[in-house]
Amino acid sequence: MTIRSGPVTVRVPATSANLGPGFDALGLALDLYDELTVEATESGLHIDVIGEGAGEVPLDDSHLVVRSMNLAFDLLGERPGGLWLTCRNVIPHGRGLGSSAAAIVSGIVAARALARGEDRLDDAALFQLATDIEGHPDNVAPALFGGLTISWVDGAAAAVQRLDVQVPVTVFVPPTPVSTQEARGLLPDSVPHGDAVFNAGRAALLVAALTQAPERLISATEDRLHQGYRSTAMPESYRLVRALRVDGVPAVISGAGPTVLAFARGIDAALPDGWALHHLDVDARGATVHP
Ligand code: HSE
Repeated sequence: MTIRSGPVTVRVPATSANLGPGFDALGLALDLYDELTVEATESGLHIDVIGEGAGEVPLDDSHLVVRSMNLAFDLLGERPGGLWLTCRNVIPHGRGLGSSAAAIVSGIVAARALARGEDRLDDAALFQLATDIEGHPDNVAPALFGGLTISWVDGAAAAVQRLDVQVPVTVFVPPTPVSTQEARGLLPDSVPHGDAVFNAGRAALLVAALTQAPERLISATEDRLHQGYRSTAMPESYRLVRALRVDGVPAVISGAGPTVLAFARGIDAALPDGWALHHLDVDARGATVHP
């Protein structure tokens, strides 16, 4: 038995997926963090949630962190008798900032650390498990690896290319959530060929804009594959994106929304009631373990 005694702390960044044209492919890690501390016990399951999700998320083994830990323990071939888990959540839930990816990645990374399992579950296997749980790789990739990630699925195999970028970010977070399931349900089964061509060019340009040509960001963040289709579920967010873009600010819907992300600082936008604004930087490290 290699289960470690004593607590393990894992910190995982918020993430923004899509970034405009890179639907289900591009992701960016941001310096806003959820943190969990977990310790193996002889039996039972104790969960404390502080901050986002407190009083809302289940406190049993259906909790997403615990579910992810248990799936990782299955792959690692061992599990502790019990767990004492404390989640300190800052990433808002249901806003398109990767809170579920953060929960999944932090759970798997914590399970691996508790089981001293780096040799049995390497980063590629960890990323695969996180993608299988989340259903797509574009948030779990930057949550795990940090920076800008291009991720894709080959058959069932998740793959990622990570890039270092530094770009100023402002996020505008509305007070009410939109479920990813609802937002995905608004997308059509097929799109016009011209729109696919449009997005392929913009997504390629966006990688160049973020790494070496920031003056291209306004063209590079245009999208025809998802934001318009989802506008009815988040009309205020859509309006804010359009208003910022008219002013020359590269703004997009973050992930499945409804948060708005702008690649800029010091923006003077009139925000609707209840919205929060955060100035963020890119996180370069991804998930980190603190023994
Ligand atoms: N690419 C995903 C979407 C991100 O837009 O639906 C949300 O998980």
